Amino acid sequence: MAGAGVDDLKKLQQENGALKEEVARLKRELKDHVEDVATVIEPPVNEVKGVLSIIVFGASGDLAFKKTYPALFSLYIHGLLPPVFQVAGFARSKMSEHAFRLRISEKFPKGHDAQKAEFLSRCWYGDGQYNSAESVASFTKIVHQHESKLLGDSKEGAHRLFYLAVPPSIFVATCASIKAAGLSESGWNRIVVEKPFGRDLESSHLLARELGALYREEQIYRIDHYLGKEMVQNLMVLRFANSVYEPVWNRYYIKSVLILFKEDFGCQGRGGYFDEFGIIRDVMQNHLLQILSLVAMEPPLSLSAEDVRNEKVRLLRAIAPASMDHTVVGQYGPDPKGREPAYIDDPTVPKSSVTPTYAATVLNINNLRWFKVPFILVAGKALDERKAEVRIQFRKPELPLFPTKLVGRNELVLRVQPDESVFFKMTIKMPGLTSELIERKQDLSYKASFGGVAIPDAYERLLYDVIRGDHNLFVRRDELIAAWKIFTPLLHQIESKSIAPVLYDYGSRGPPQGLELLVKHGYDFGDIAPLRLRPGQGLAPGSKPVQEAAKQDGQEVAKQDADPSKK
Ligand SMILES: NC(=O)c1ccc[n+]([C@@H]2O[C@H](COP(=O)([O-])OP(=O)(O)OC[C@H]3O[C@@H](n4cnc5c(N)ncnc54)[C@H](OP(=O)(O)O)[C@@H]3O)[C@@H](O)[C@H]2O)c1
Repeated sequence: MAGAGVDDLKKLQQENGALKEEVARLKRELKDHVEDVATVIEPPVNEVKGVLSIIVFGASGDLAFKKTYPALFSLYIHGLLPPVFQVAGFARSKMSEHAFRLRISEKFPKGHDAQKAEFLSRCWYGDGQYNSAESVASFTKIVHQHESKLLGDSKEGAHRLFYLAVPPSIFVATCASIKAAGLSESGWNRIVVEKPFGRDLESSHLLARELGALYREEQIYRIDHYLGKEMVQNLMVLRFANSVYEPVWNRYYIKSVLILFKEDFGCQGRGGYFDEFGIIRDVMQNHLLQILSLVAMEPPLSLSAEDVRNEKVRLLRAIAPASMDHTVVGQYGPDPKGREPAYIDDPTVPKSSVTPTYAATVLNINNLRWFKVPFILVAGKALDERKAEVRIQFRKPELPLFPTKLVGRNELVLRVQPDESVFFKMTIKMPGLTSELIERKQDLSYKASFGGVAIPDAYERLLYDVIRGDHNLFVRRDELIAAWKIFTPLLHQIESKSIAPVLYDYGSRGPPQGLELLVKHGYDFGDIAPLRLRPGQGLAPGSKPVQEAAKQDGQEVAKQDADPSKK
């Protein structure tokens, strides 16, 4: 009897232990769930209690006056800043309050005079040294005085948003001074940093470690302003809120994806910064790769920042490193009409520079959905037009009911800028007593569809989200590392071997080798593009890459016909 009692006791103890573990597990799960829900339903900014201090380091600089202050003013006039706030600017330059307010309001929209005066009355400026805790402490003392005045008798806290509009060389020193002497003790503290986040995998790791030693990951907001663009945010909605896309969003239906960024101007005297980085670091490794991850990732478990970023990281980790064999780099020469200088004639660029101002590369995603679908990234300065878009080209119909060469290629295009739009190219019958086929666009231009609705600047959206504490549109540390792993070997190869970029004319479509790369990897220009090429720059309709592409298409259809699993 006594033995049975001991056994029962042991059994009860074991059960008790298992129950405790189960309770702990459920608690953890509940906590995660509550955090997820909290991220999705972050309160709107005007529900932020207490006072918000937005503190701009590098307030005298280009980014602050071109983007940060105009975005804050726009949020203010739309009622999207919390009711009680101040905007404190910090930099080394000595400036009167009047001169400072004139500078930061230069890019504000015309009109809104009363709101402008009210907003500017909340903006002030202090000078000091970024790397000096004493300097930052004296500045913060004034921030604190304003906070106390604004809070009055309220017992609510003071929240601080530190926006680092400073060169990367002083990121860490500035962050360290803020940590030592600038943080609020009664509310949240958030740090906003701008790209570049390092120059390669190693320097990015170092920066991440240094920042990580000062702040928790959830306090850091890394801006890739492309994520704030309307059409980039639309990618998730388009893919996952429309049932027609998911079944065809894979290698069986999609032949190639082109992600394109073109600028129609050169460095305009600011080539010094650019020359240190080049187009791959400046545009491709961040903006274009972010777009690619949203185009290609698997559906996230939820819309929470962590679930979305988990899928983006998983996708980035499936991409093979970019290789020189599938890359073309170029640099712009002068405009043939002599109106614009070559890149190396920019006064801030060394004459011997081999920094690419153009790059085209093909990435492969090694997962089940995208195996062997080329993702072609193209970015260039001083080209024929200003444009950023995603072009998803579908395979031609398997059943050759109509002559293949008469059937256009279905293409879904998302234009990110300018003039946001989504359009779908399809083949239809030419109207009338004819059996000819013709390609037409089903067009959803935002301007036409939404009349005069203003599309906010990316920075407005991003600042709004920092204030709400929503990390969805910001780059996570592991995402950054995964992105650098894709491009670091290529960058090191270009630099260690001083690979000379191919010269292209200012205002052209880039080097012909870039266009050839696109065609070689299956991008179909249709009938249009070769006709628009400048003499001597394009691909003759019968040239080898064009013939190869046509052959590949035929083979592809034939191969699919022979595959019984596809029937
Ligand atoms: N400009 C843009 O459109 C843009 C776009 C995307 C990302 N970004 C990134 O945003 C950050 C700021 O860009 P920005 O164009 O505004 O930079 P910036 O004008 O060159 O620099 C911002 C401010 O930092 C201070 N500063 C400059 N060089 C310094 C140095 N060597 N040591 C200490 N302080 C220095 C200057 O202010 P004081 O001398 O008065 O202290 C300057 O007004 C950078 O990381 C940049 O890569 C800029």
